[in-house]
Amino acid sequence: MHEPRKLYVKSFGCQMNVYDSHRMADTLAKEGYVETQDPADADLVILNTCHIREKAVDKVYSELGRLRKAKQEDGRDTIIAVAGCVAQAEGAEILRRTPVVDLVVGPQSYHRLPELLAQAKAGARPVDTEFPTEDKFDHLPAPSAAATRSRGPTAFVTVQEGCDKFCTFCVVPYTRGSEVSRPVLKIVDEARRLVDQGVREITLIGQNVNGFHGEGPDGKTWGLAALVERLAQIEGLARLRYTTSHPRDMDDALIAAHRDLPVLMPYLHLPVQSGSDRILAAMNRRHGRELFVDIIARLRDARPDMALSSDFIVGFPGETEEDFQATLDLVDQIGFASAYSFKYSTRPGTPAAGYGAQVPEEVKTDRLARLHARLEASKTAFDAGCKGRRFDILLEKPGRLPGQLIGRSPYLQSVVVTAPPAGIGELLAVEITEVGPNSLAGRVVEHQDVEDRGLASDRPLAAMEA
Ligand code: 5AD
Ligand code: SF4
Repeated sequence: MHEPRKLYVKSFGCQMNVYDSHRMADTLAKEGYVETQDPADADLVILNTCHIREKAVDKVYSELGRLRKAKQEDGRDTIIAVAGCVAQAEGAEILRRTPVVDLVVGPQSYHRLPELLAQAKAGARPVDTEFPTEDKFDHLPAPSAAATRSRGPTAFVTVQEGCDKFCTFCVVPYTRGSEVSRPVLKIVDEARRLVDQGVREITLIGQNVNGFHGEGPDGKTWGLAALVERLAQIEGLARLRYTTSHPRDMDDALIAAHRDLPVLMPYLHLPVQSGSDRILAAMNRRHGRELFVDIIARLRDARPDMALSSDFIVGFPGETEEDFQATLDLVDQIGFASAYSFKYSTRPGTPAAGYGAQVPEEVKTDRLARLHARLEASKTAFDAGCKGRRFDILLEKPGRLPGQLIGRSPYLQSVVVTAPPAGIGELLAVEITEVGPNSLAGRVVEHQDVEDRGLASDRPLAAMEA
């Protein structure tokens, strides 16, 4: 018997890359590859790359530098593949710039990996960045039960790829192409299979997820609200989330779904980027501050325990101190449970790269620090408000100390529970007793007492353990 060949996949960037990395590993499992956590031990290394900001791209090239050194030192003929958005954007340029790379594959061609690998082994250095007409999802094998188990009780499912919004700072419409949604029944089948394999929480992912417009079983086009309603019927699925949304696509049906479906977690990532109408217009966000504020009010009306997270960019070309103050003011007005903030990064080929009035680096640094402090204060206030609240916690992994398990609240906070009467993958009713900077701690309470209206809380604990 041959030793199994070893695969090391490293994901950069967003959750879709995490999902895609799993699907690549599932494809290669069929070719006899088993995953390793150690690149030095691998016969095949795949870097699943991110192109969103310059820093993300720099990380990929420094990782390639490390791999080149390691390969020279130990003399192994490890195959090195570059996948993801840098592969899509730079294609053959990567081969010219980094001789250590054997294979370049864009996100729409992962189902062709076995064939590309065979070419790479024959010395060909293939590049595949086509947007093929066949649907890669039809050719990517589903994970085995063992693979799903090893990934824990939460899973991602891609429902939509690409973006037609063309924000002036963003490369996604170019790297991921125009919006394509998967058919409803294929998504339902994938979700059901994951739940049968023990998954309790599914996050639907897409670059513009609430722009979902997939073919329904009735032949009509379904929106995200209808899809979520259908998935909510899957027995054993306790939690549903979706990311990343665009404010313009938060329609009435989706807001109503938050009111009507307990399985939808009361937590939404809704990027706003800026609080200034002038900057939002220059970004081509297609909405102003008022629409964002109004959506949040309607979401909170539909689901009073709704919490928000968002993305912000500071130092977009032309951003004045007054524009920036409007962003700080929006943070205070809304209150975010969590958020990501970035310095504007000039991306080649995007409209904003050519704008005048680029903001000096030191101004960006200063604004990022001030925004970050404001967002931290917002998060700290939200976390502090969780003390004494009772939530369902989905237990995900062992804690640092014996007898501890770590789970997630409806708001994705890490919660440490000591001596829980349940195991990984189960939901447990917990009262938050302590709030720290990185995690919360809680004690087990009776199930009837939890406040979030998640499916699981409607069932007695005994039923969960069955
Ligand atoms: N510069 C800085 N941040 C960016 N983002 C996207 N493009 C850029 C850019 N050119 C941020 C946005 C987006 C998140 C995924 O990354 O905030 O919501
Ligand atoms: Fe990029 Fe805007 Fe599309 Fe989001 S909505 S992926 S920021 S172009």
